[in-house]
Amino acid sequence: MKPQKRHEPSSKFLKDLALGAGAILMKYFNKKHKIEVKPGAGIVTEADKAAESYIIKNILRKFPKSSIITEETGEYHGDPKLMWVIDPLDGTSNYAHGFPWFCVSIGLYLDGKPKAGVIYQPFTQELYFAEKGKGAFLNGKRIKVSKTNKLEEALVGTGFYYSKSESLRNEVEVFRIMNESTLAVRRPGSAALDLACVASGRFDGFWERGLSSWDVAAGFLLVEEAGGLVTNYQGKKTSIFEKYCLATNGKIHKRMQSVVSSIK
Ligand code: IPD
Ligand code: CA
Ligand code: CA
Repeated sequence: MKPQKRHEPSSKFLKDLALGAGAILMKYFNKKHKIEVKPGAGIVTEADKAAESYIIKNILRKFPKSSIITEETGEYHGDPKLMWVIDPLDGTSNYAHGFPWFCVSIGLYLDGKPKAGVIYQPFTQELYFAEKGKGAFLNGKRIKVSKTNKLEEALVGTGFYYSKSESLRNEVEVFRIMNESTLAVRRPGSAALDLACVASGRFDGFWERGLSSWDVAAGFLLVEEAGGLVTNYQGKKTSIFEKYCLATNGKIHKRMQSVVSSIK
């Protein structure tokens, strides 16, 4: 008897999830809606919750055995071989202030390995998609990381975690050094879009400490499929569950790494 081929999510299914959630975000954007302060740090809006429930409902309807890691409602324990990692709204603070730099991010893992990722920025209608071994795309067009090989000429991005702890001072010091070492540093406020910017060559590199799996699950694959490099601050292979992220075009990786690892 032939082994049955597993029913796997299609790229269209992933893209439709992101487009549908993006439409929900646009529906609430710049309109009066509920915003709550989270118990730890940060905020959550009515739009985060509506987009998340749309994504989860649609995944579970089609793939009821799925495992899901998602920012607002936690974890759904199903088949670990079919895992979704979701940030329904990355860039919540921007969103809540009417600053149109936010997105939906969905990563798909099969058998414990990254299979596909989608990041959708509804305000600009830019949809980034990557599939393992098949490249990275922006609105259907192939994207590649930049060719910049001098740190002095690089435009790089970063972000800061919400909690205003002591160690944030170190982050600010790294920011200062990086700012002196590069053309400029940007801090746009959505880690998923920062990674998409590295993949599309808009940024030459990005670093951030304290990110969560849902911030980076799609973005890591995008950067790698666009020919870039993603490691921890030691320059070692990383995973979406590690807290230190350095993603670059590969050419400026070592020099950025020496800056980010210079302060503990
Ligand atoms: C945040 C954004 C931000 C990053 C924070 C994240 P959220 O995610 O990605 O750029 O600096 O660390 O928590 O809360 O907007 O989904
Ligand atoms: Ca996020
Ligand atoms: Ca979020």
